[in-house]
Amino acid sequence: MKRNFTKKEADSMNLHKKHLILMGMMGTGKSTVGHHLAQHLPYPAIDLDHWIEEKQNQSIPSIFEEFGESYFRELESQALKHFLKQSQPYILITGGGIIIRPENRKWMKKESGAVFHLIADVETLIQRLELDVSRPLLQGDKAEKIRRIWSERKSLYESIADYQVQTDDRSPESITTEILSHWYQLPV
Ligand code: S3P
Repeated sequence: MKRNFTKKEADSMNLHKKHLILMGMMGTGKSTVGHHLAQHLPYPAIDLDHWIEEKQNQSIPSIFEEFGESYFRELESQALKHFLKQSQPYILITGGGIIIRPENRKWMKKESGAVFHLIADVETLIQRLELDVSRPLLQGDKAEKIRRIWSERKSLYESIADYQVQTDDRSPESITTEILSHWYQLPV
């Protein structure tokens, strides 16, 4: 879903022309929120995982299975850099592991208007991802893996987050409104 803004409309919004980044654990609703945001901002939303899948003509689970995680991380870094260097601003929906590589964290911080960290209680994530079969890192004991990944990544997310946005028991519209209120207050 994307609303088309005229150039005049977009100019009158007086927005600074920088990328808006959404990051956070699997299951925090980054894609849903990103596409909602795209209805309110004159920037396209790009889901890096979908972009990689289209470019490789292969699903993420299949990339993990055939080439392994480090190969996927390389594709992920390349995709991130590709969009961050564009002068056209994007709403960038990142995969949960984007913060693992130090260079990604550095780029995200440097080349964006703001980095939004979507958070949810671990128990909420476990519940939301209970039936999911699309995340290769959650094979086996899902609850244990989600807890471990969160404990390994929490401080990495926090190290580059400009805003933490709680998503438990909230609608995508309410989360979008909160993100936009921060975004509009950023200096142009
Ligand atoms: C991953 C999260 C996934 C996807 C891949 C690895 C991770 O994206 O990039 O399965 O390491 O947390 P989502 O956060 O959109 O599920």
